Formats: sequence, C-alpha cells, structure tokens
Amino acid sequence: MTIATTTKFDPHPPALPLEPVRPDGLRGLYASVPSGVAAVCALVDGRPDGMAASSLVPVSLDPPLVSFCVQNDSRTWPRVRAADRIGVSVLAGDQRDACTALAAREGDRFADLDWQAHDGGGVFVTGASAHLECVLEAELAGGDHRIVLLRVLAGARGAASPIIFHNSGFGSIAESVSP
Ligand SMILES: Cc1cc2nc3c(=O)[nH]c(=O)nc-3n(C[C@H](O)[C@H](O)[C@H](O)COP(=O)(O)O)c2cc1C
Repeated sequence: MTIATTTKFDPHPPALPLEPVRPDGLRGLYASVPSGVAAVCALVDGRPDGMAASSLVPVSLDPPLVSFCVQNDSRTWPRVRAADRIGVSVLAGDQRDACTALAAREGDRFADLDWQAHDGGGVFVTGASAHLECVLEAELAGGDHRIVLLRVLAGARGAASPIIFHNSGFGSIAESVSP
C-alpha cells in the first residue's frame, strides 16, 4: 500500500510576534545574526595586542574599506588604534580557542596563539582564512559602540574556511560556498 503525503503550501504564514526592544532581548536578537570572527591586532610597544570582533563587514571596494564595531569602553582598542598598521585576521573554523583567547579579560591573550607581525606592526593570526593589512580611516559614533572604518592596504586568502559565530556559539562550514 502506498501512503501519499502532501505538504500544504501556506502563502501567508503567521508573522513572528514582535516585542518592544529591551537590552537583554536585543542581545538575543542580535545573536541570531550569523557572522564570522576577526582578530584585530597590532604590535603595541613591541608586543602583540588585540581583540576578537564578530562585527567585521566589508564596506567598499574603491576605496577598499572594511568596518567593525568596538565597545566604547574597550581597553584594547585605544592601544591598537594608535598603531601604524592593523592586522585583521578572518579566523578559521578550527580557531575557536583563538576567538576565546582574544576576548579574555585577564592574562596574555597571545600566550597560546601562533601569530606573525608584518613590517609596520600589523599582527596576524597564523592559519586564518584571510589576512587584511589595514590602516585606520575613520571612527563614527554608534551608540554604545564606535563604528571603525579601516582602509585595506594588502591582503591574502588562506585555504581554511571561516568560523561562524551564531547564537553565542561557534560553528564552521564544511566547505566554502563557490559562486
Ligand atoms: C566571538 C566574539 C566576538 C566579539 N566581537 C566583538 C565586537 O565585534 N566588538 C567588540 O567591541 N567586542 C567584541 N568582543 C569582545 C572583545 O573581544 C573583548 O572581549 C572586549 O573588547 C573586552 O576587552 P577589552 O576591554 O580589552 O577591549 C567579542 C568577543 C567574542 C568572544
């Protein structure tokens, strides 16, 4: 006997119930937006310094600009922004520990990281999906964050696929999506 199943197409599915925004609810809402994670790093007084950021967004091809958002109360950004060159590493799927280390409140974030410094002071995490060598272009106010525009001077793509940050957890994609 064959049992036929049908899927009913509903052209008007019920809308998700909207709720007024409150900071806690908003945090969860933003967490539903998937992103990559970048390491934004530079040599400061001869030592690597930097932070993890899930807010990296390509902005412009000509001129070449990317942006990321940094908390107004970040202790790290005022040091890194003063560097001549800023290294942006698009972290790879197997670099969860690097993401966590680069957000640590205490201790040496680079103690267990493989990294390289380029001439000019940009610091890059080894094994990342891509490296962008940048200079600071502009900073704009964005509520409790600042929107940082970085001009891209040079870059390199690695073979590793990127890490995905979603719902406060890390994932990876098995293979890069080809055009
Ligand atoms: C996955 C992940 C993504 C993050 N993304 C950002 C971000 O986009 N902007 C930001 O200001 N902090 C972000 N943070 C937090 C920073 O990495 C860091 O913990 C924070 O800047 C506090 O450290 P600081 O005071 O030394 O800057 C992120 C942390 C993690 C683990």
